[in-house]
Amino acid sequence: MNVENIRLINFRNYKSLNIELNEKMNIFIGKNAQGKTNLLESIYMCATGKSFRTNRDKEIINLSKGEAYIGANIKTGRTQKFIEIKMERDKPKRIRVNKIELKSFKELYSGLNVVVFSPDDLRLIKEGPFERRNFLDMSISQIKPVYKHNINRYNKILFQRNNLLKSNKSKSNIINLLEIFDLQLVKVGTDIIISRNDFIEELSKKSYEIHSALTLGEELKLNYISNVNFKGKNKNDIENYFLEKLKANANKDLITGTTEVGPHRDDMEIKINDITARNFASQGQQRTIVLSIKLSEVEMIKAEKGVYPVLLLDDVFSELDKQRRKYLVQSFNEMQTIITATDIMDLTELEKENKTVFYIEDGKVLQ
Ligand SMILES: Nc1ncnc2c1ncn2[C@@H]1O[C@H](COP(=O)(O)OP(=O)(O)O)[C@@H](O)[C@H]1O
Ligand SMILES: [Mg+2]
Repeated sequence: MNVENIRLINFRNYKSLNIELNEKMNIFIGKNAQGKTNLLESIYMCATGKSFRTNRDKEIINLSKGEAYIGANIKTGRTQKFIEIKMERDKPKRIRVNKIELKSFKELYSGLNVVVFSPDDLRLIKEGPFERRNFLDMSISQIKPVYKHNINRYNKILFQRNNLLKSNKSKSNIINLLEIFDLQLVKVGTDIIISRNDFIEELSKKSYEIHSALTLGEELKLNYISNVNFKGKNKNDIENYFLEKLKANANKDLITGTTEVGPHRDDMEIKINDITARNFASQGQQRTIVLSIKLSEVEMIKAEKGVYPVLLLDDVFSELDKQRRKYLVQSFNEMQTIITATDIMDLTELEKENKTVFYIEDGKVLQ
């Protein structure tokens, strides 16, 4: 799968851009604040309908303009798709695939899959569970569009349940009404738990192997952590356990006005040689862990979709040492990659590759 071309109008610092991409490797070189990450952001949006940097679409529109546009042609085998996103200041964004408008961006499956790796991804290791849940949600959604639908539904039900907990109805009244939400929460929540468990199991296996090859033997393990006990249980058992735990916790939830039990509190433990990476891994080790996880995600998309996703590497390639760059280049072979860097990199590893080098300056791209 590859992005054939990309057109931007008033997208962040791009007034007007129209470029053709190489179907294999693309390298964008530019100083800081010239528009490298912005360009990757626009491609990521075509895949997921949202940015990896912000939830506020308005920020994306050029400061001096009222609307922004992204248009991209995507090719997968012999199938071609034309994805367009239009953002306006006072309206929700609109997405079209082959000129047909999607009813809601939440149902976007554009046919484009991407995996992005940027310095911000080190947050996956250093920060709290929210970052890891977000990673899980974005990754699983790309492989399984129904998952995204489940997450949206779950969040809606959770929001209503929490509102009820905070309402000034009588306690017995609230407890009675909770049951309706609990049943719904358990149904959707259990599907989410099962999807996350399957995904993490597979991701853990794949990244264990990749990480071991990248580090000559370090053991990377990923573990799914949930306050709903699911291990070794079937769907029915998880649902029953989840429901009971919600009921048992209802009085506590009433006091705090929030829901304590459920996958919205999930986490993914990342361990190196059986020690939690968050506490001890060096910057370099963290980068390698994230690289292993991202390359595993690439492999999982390939296994699920039959084609490689587009790999976006923002400012990370030149930070890797020679051995890891070499490993990456080997993995590149079959897929389209879009790499950004601030300096002309040591391209010796890339000499023979089919590649195009672009230069970015102040929202303009030269080849
Ligand atoms: N909505 C916007 N309108 C105009 N310029 C913007 C907007 N959002 C970001 N920028 C500009 O984009 C530049 C940053 O681009 P970015 O892609 O992050 O740079 P880098 O090349 O370092 O990755 C900054 O100069 C910033 O002011
Ligand atoms: Mg950048």
